Amino acid sequence: MVSYFDMNHFLKETDFSPQDAAEVFAMAREFKAKRGRQATPVLAGQTWAMIFSKSSTRTRVSFEVGIHELGGNPLFLNRNDIQLGRGESIEDTAQVLSRFVHGLIVRTFDHQDVERLAAAGSVPVINALTDFLHPCQIYTDAFTAAERWSTTKGGDLLGSLRGRKIAFLGDTACNMAYSWVLGANLFGMEISLGGPEAFRPTAEFDAFLAKEGFAGGYTFTTDPVAAVKNADIVYTDVWVSMGKEEESKQRLRTLAPYQVTMDLFRAARPDAYFLHCLPAHPGEEVTQEVLSSPRSVIFDQAENRLHVQKAIMAKLVQSRT
Ligand code: CP
Ligand code: NVA
Repeated sequence: MVSYFDMNHFLKETDFSPQDAAEVFAMAREFKAKRGRQATPVLAGQTWAMIFSKSSTRTRVSFEVGIHELGGNPLFLNRNDIQLGRGESIEDTAQVLSRFVHGLIVRTFDHQDVERLAAAGSVPVINALTDFLHPCQIYTDAFTAAERWSTTKGGDLLGSLRGRKIAFLGDTACNMAYSWVLGANLFGMEISLGGPEAFRPTAEFDAFLAKEGFAGGYTFTTDPVAAVKNADIVYTDVWVSMGKEEESKQRLRTLAPYQVTMDLFRAARPDAYFLHCLPAHPGEEVTQEVLSSPRSVIFDQAENRLHVQKAIMAKLVQSRT
């Protein structure tokens, strides 16, 4: 049984059902088409706090702009500027902030921290990246591909993903890989991970996936060419995620065979797209040639963070009214 769906929060892909995801995608398409011409003030009179413990360009700016565009007020809080950074408990922080604000958007290290905030507070919590998952990014990535594929599917965004294959190369035990495995299963896609043994998903992740109803929902290979065979999307992410800087030397050495080059990209389907959550490190996980190729959609992905996250916030607010 699939353990859907905690519609009060968006901490992982499966907090929304496929039907919810379809509605989020449809709303995002509408927000994108009407941006600047038609306001949808679903957050009017509300303040949403953003507690960030890590750097961010895309997530921070797209949420701040998105909250404004929905008529709300964003409040950016660096973890170290509030008492949380000096040891105030997550539970007390959640309860206090719930008295002031209408939603929390959280970027942090330990995934349990967002779960504890959600459990202790009384406002919606959105995961803006943990060491474990980055669901706002995955919904955006899927939307970015679906925008293209749905044109031949009568505009059915979610339906256009079904049966497609994504290949994820490199650090296949990072937040992006784990989140994409969950997303691919939710969206009815096939996912193949290509990376070294040392960076394959952990048994703990496999257990989590099984609990979500998707036991064994990916394939893993150490052969990058086998991973991208027949892929509709080739995806990679930085080899050194935030918080892993001390392992840089070893990571760069071990992951080198998984760089996405034009040759590797060509081993996927001829009409495959290249996706990357950004920031990219050209010359490490991917070449500049691939990043700049006509099949690369990296800046559409970045833009779509805005539209998709507005839809996620709107969906959470709707579900509470
Ligand atoms: N992709 C992404 O989340 O980018 P930022 O770290 O800049 O927010
Ligand atoms: N895996 C990367 C994603 C950045 C958006 C990190 O966690 O740093």
